Amino acid sequence: MISQTFIRELLERADIYEVVNRRVPLQSKGANGWACCPFHNEKSPSFSVSRDKQIFHCFGCGEHGNAIGFIMKYENLPFPDAVEKLAQECGVKVVYDGKSTFNRNPEKPRLTDIMERAQKYYRNRFLDNSAAQKYIKDRGLTDETLEKFGIGFAPDGWHNLDSVFSPDDRKLLIDAGLQREGNGGSFYDFFRNRLMFPIRNIRGQIIAFSARTMIGEEPKYINTGDTPIFTKGKEVFGLYEARRSIQEKKRVIVVEGQMDAIQLSQAGFGESCAPLGTAIRSEHVERLLKMTDHIIFSFDGDTAGRKAALRAMDICLPLLEDAQKAVFVFLPEGEDPDSLVKNQGPEAFEKLISQGLPLSSYLIESTSRGLDLSILEDKGAFLDAAAPYIRKTKSVLLRDGLIERIATAAGYKDTDQLARYFGFEKVAPIAPRPSGFRNGASARFGKGGFGARRFNTPSSGKTLPPKPETPILVLLRNFLRYPQLALEFEGAATEHLSSGELG
Ligand code: UTP
Ligand code: MN
Repeated sequence: MISQTFIRELLERADIYEVVNRRVPLQSKGANGWACCPFHNEKSPSFSVSRDKQIFHCFGCGEHGNAIGFIMKYENLPFPDAVEKLAQECGVKVVYDGKSTFNRNPEKPRLTDIMERAQKYYRNRFLDNSAAQKYIKDRGLTDETLEKFGIGFAPDGWHNLDSVFSPDDRKLLIDAGLQREGNGGSFYDFFRNRLMFPIRNIRGQIIAFSARTMIGEEPKYINTGDTPIFTKGKEVFGLYEARRSIQEKKRVIVVEGQMDAIQLSQAGFGESCAPLGTAIRSEHVERLLKMTDHIIFSFDGDTAGRKAALRAMDICLPLLEDAQKAVFVFLPEGEDPDSLVKNQGPEAFEKLISQGLPLSSYLIESTSRGLDLSILEDKGAFLDAAAPYIRKTKSVLLRDGLIERIATAAGYKDTDQLARYFGFEKVAPIAPRPSGFRNGASARFGKGGFGARRFNTPSSGKTLPPKPETPILVLLRNFLRYPQLALEFEGAATEHLSSGELG
């Protein structure tokens, strides 16, 4: 347990104004600081920080609390971690009383400690291995970049770590994924003859490694598997290193590979990071959206890149809030960000970013690709392709905007109807419509007017099929089978009604 006295003293020592201001720049007005609330979307500041009371309060959303509460909420940390963080920022060490401190997992701090020691070892081996240095030099990385990312080298051989760690550390080495158990109770190093890229958590602790071969071995990269301190599907490579740039530039760039993130960082895009392994996941995007409102995804310009972009779109839609945006950047075929900034310079990459497609445009483009929207059937296919995306869009602003864009692209005048088609009811749905509609319509259609022309139903009472096959049934069945027809019909019916043709 963290000592209660310590918490009190920490809160006395910390200045909430500074704590907030480091994360959300405050404007001083009177005794208080003001900003747009980081916890809800707003245009004029109603979030205040009081130096006197050492609390924050938002008059808009009612969120309030002390410095620890702010860190918990802003950085999405549990209480003990927020205390740790605040203590670190105040330059003091957390005082614990009782033994339950690391009850949640007593191994965790020891595992990150093991990783730290391993990294130091790999770092030193890099410094005395000329092949590794040559490889890195050929790839164009500077000493500063090597330092920033802590890049090292695991020498060839199966038992190097045994010279660094004591036999008492065995279990921790295994749990951390640095060693494996072989036959007959022997143990061997997992990473051999590879460049070592440390993966840090958002607090800067090393929790895993990604290791690249320099001699063309397969697989090219091997990564630490899941351990008590590392869940591969959740971590984002380079996020710790990128955190300040993300805050300054108010954006994050997500690339496919860690080398890309590193190279971009060196080229002036410190706000770059990469999901680990391959595909981007919800957990990654969720994490990024807590840090910034603007995600730029960079994809290779090949089929795999297009597929990854669709996936990213799918993941973003249920997560993006009203004021947040995702932009899709596609690189020329055959380039990745690493090669692009090396071959064409950082300006070329910035230019590609500025030409990137906002998610809204990408959605319309990708769902209408190859379709001729002047053809009714293609319009239907377009709506069907877009529907699942529209339905999972969280931001109402984005959703309504998308529906409007789709309406324009497909040539529908009434966006409310389209919204209804996608399942967002503004008025009663078509099927259980007032009885007047049914009677009136069947009477009118029976005379072979509008419906006959449009749906090729019989053109006069005489040719009507025997009951119960009435035109309205044909019509309704067609609506059910081809919902997009309902839209066509509604628009046309309104026109005809207002022009008095049917009345
Ligand atoms: P790429 O094959 O595109 O590699 O894999 P890269 O990023 O361009 O790497 P370099 O430039 O050849 O060094 C993209 C990402 O997929 C993961 C890695 O995270 C890599 O950065 N990957 C790739 C693996 O985990 N294992 C592999 O064997 C290959
Ligand atoms: Mn590459």
